[in-house]
Amino acid sequence: MPSNTLTITDNRTDRSYTLPIEDGAIRSMDFRQIKTSDEDFGVMLYDPAFMNTASCRSTITYIDGERGILEYRGYPIEELAEHCTFLEVAYLLLFGELPTELELKSWVWEITHHTMLHETTRKFTEGFRYDAHPMSMLVSTVAALSAVYPDAKNVQDPANRLLQTKRLIGKMPTIAAMSYRHNVGFPYVYPDNDLSYTENFMNMLWKMVEPKYAANPVLARALDILFILHADHEQNCSTNTMRSVGSSLADPYLAVAAAAAALSGPLHGGANEEVLKMLDEIGTKANVPAYVQKVKDGHTKLMGFGHRVYKNFDPRAKIIKKAADEVFKVTGNNPKLDIALELEKIALQDEYFIKRRLYPNVDFYSGIIYQAVGFKPELFTVLFAIPRTVGWLAQWQELMTDTEKKIARPRQIFTGARARSFVPMKDRLPAGAVIK
Ligand code: ACO
Repeated sequence: MPSNTLTITDNRTDRSYTLPIEDGAIRSMDFRQIKTSDEDFGVMLYDPAFMNTASCRSTITYIDGERGILEYRGYPIEELAEHCTFLEVAYLLLFGELPTELELKSWVWEITHHTMLHETTRKFTEGFRYDAHPMSMLVSTVAALSAVYPDAKNVQDPANRLLQTKRLIGKMPTIAAMSYRHNVGFPYVYPDNDLSYTENFMNMLWKMVEPKYAANPVLARALDILFILHADHEQNCSTNTMRSVGSSLADPYLAVAAAAAALSGPLHGGANEEVLKMLDEIGTKANVPAYVQKVKDGHTKLMGFGHRVYKNFDPRAKIIKKAADEVFKVTGNNPKLDIALELEKIALQDEYFIKRRLYPNVDFYSGIIYQAVGFKPELFTVLFAIPRTVGWLAQWQELMTDTEKKIARPRQIFTGARARSFVPMKDRLPAGAVIK
């Protein structure tokens, strides 16, 4: 018997099956041969939240959740955050290698020259209500770009995919800034090609009447680091959405809009905004123990805590804490930091959190820095979506060249009624209109 196999005995039939193990995994289709009769559909695997299902092979991002390791294309996140710019890391994620000086120059030029939006897109964003959430505006506006760039439907053409990739990376900060300016009622600011990616974003957010916007270099660098940390995170909820929508060959604007929609949820990228709301609700350090008790009693969750993959620490949270020190030297301390530190201290000593292996994740501290830099909490998830667009696109490009690519289409275990006789209207009983 080859050693790299798994032998399963079906106790219903006493038959044994030997399945190959490849890269530590078994192909779920190999289970379909396990049947009780020829009519039997065969055994399926049930994994509603993808707790133990690999949906693809990928060479982009490596995570070891037990050891707190995160690598992009093999490079530790700590080193990339220390030495690179965000666009340099974007190049690495998309093309697999760090760029040479010349390659980086040309890449930055390309992205910088795709930051403008068509005027119809600007007019489109004017249609939102004054109090629309910036994340809702971002998702809808990215989807609307599908109408501006009909050529994006040509997803099988590598050159076309690259063009849309550059457009999306370039335009995401412009859309994000417009959402913010719309929300606060300020006129939109057009991109400034002299500035770096993050400086230009800050320019489009905060420029008022000054002829030229000058970002604080420490704050711009902190934002660049935060963008690097958020650029990719393998098969998370939004990336899985990107791949799932992309697998139907939808254009990348629609797939990115879908991925951003998935990101907006409070259990995913929306958590950073929720952390700030939670810290506001707690109010003072003295209220922390009572809040922790509320969490333990099951009344609420500690937002910014816990992760599906990281079970010891989130390496991104460590880097963010360090970046926070630099930011606070410029901005002064954010009073919320004391509450957050107290919350972390108490939670990390508490049996409830220790037993469940709950640690601060990337969102726990990112919001505190964002607020100190001057971002409104409603913009926090948008700040996550800008850099994650690079990860979504890198994963989409990988999917599009995957020889095993097929439309994503899970199976179900049907548990409802079958083959019922039709009931005429006059014989129907009130069902109570409860959605089942
Ligand atoms: N506060 C309190 N209890 C928690 C928390 C939390 N933040 N997270 C998990 N738990 C508890 C669960 O209630 C469960 O307890 P039980 O075993 O008694 O039922 C146990 O820990 C396991 O949690 P699951 O929900 O099964 O873990 P899962 O891997 O499905 O969820 C998730 C991970 C969604 C991140 C979860 O920890 C959570 O909701 N955290 C708060 C939201 C958050 O910060 N999200 C951002 C994640 S990072 C990102 O997307 C960028």
